[in-house]
Amino acid sequence: MKFFVDSANVEDIREMAATGLIDGVTTNPTFVAKSGRPILELIGEICAAVEGPVSAEVAATSTDEMIREGLILGSVAPNVAIKLPLTWDGLKACKVLTASHGLMVNVTLCFSANQALMAAKAGATFVSPFVGRLDDLNIDGLELIHEIRAIYDNYDALQTEILCASVRTPNHVKAVALAGADVVTLPPEVFPKLVEHPLTEKGLAAFMADWEAGGQSIEAPEPAVPGIKLDRGAGKA
Ligand code: E4P
Repeated sequence: MKFFVDSANVEDIREMAATGLIDGVTTNPTFVAKSGRPILELIGEICAAVEGPVSAEVAATSTDEMIREGLILGSVAPNVAIKLPLTWDGLKACKVLTASHGLMVNVTLCFSANQALMAAKAGATFVSPFVGRLDDLNIDGLELIHEIRAIYDNYDALQTEILCASVRTPNHVKAVALAGADVVTLPPEVFPKLVEHPLTEKGLAAFMADWEAGGQSIEAPEPAVPGIKLDRGAGKA
């Protein structure tokens, strides 16, 4: 499963990328507006900070304008994925940008299985179902991920990756992973929570205290015969 960062904050993205566990980034118009920076400069900087796909969203709503803006965004770096809304215009633009221009496209604002089916038909690289926003309305966001997974798995031709968005909690991450999502995009505040556990911290503190009390240390052993090099891995398959 791939982990993307859901942010346009370059500092947060760099910090998360430094773990070596991040495979891409998703931005949206709200994040970019909040950054106060020109979008092309910002996206260029993010693309240089991570190797994987960086979603940059168009602001247009008509097909022709989405294609025009998509081509501009796509020229920033080879790892830009053009983010398009899940509308008829967006799907038409998706088809053109993927099939005719070879760009990655992330079709966003997906709230139903049929919408996800249409995004795949339009050749989307990613479809972004919004789990949290459905949960906010008392609609099971997770069920949508199960439905999309089942539909995509019915047809080899549908190669679109399910990118779970609007993820708010560590439990969302576990649930979408169990449902077979290809990608989850993580708000920076959720990422550390995937590792933190009080019993891990308590257990580690106890082990370290015992270790220190026992006076042990881990050092490379001296060779038994001077001049003979120890190679414990030699001869093993
Ligand atoms: C997806 O690409 C969006 O950027 C994001 O996940 C939306 O999350 P929200 O519903 O918490 O705003």
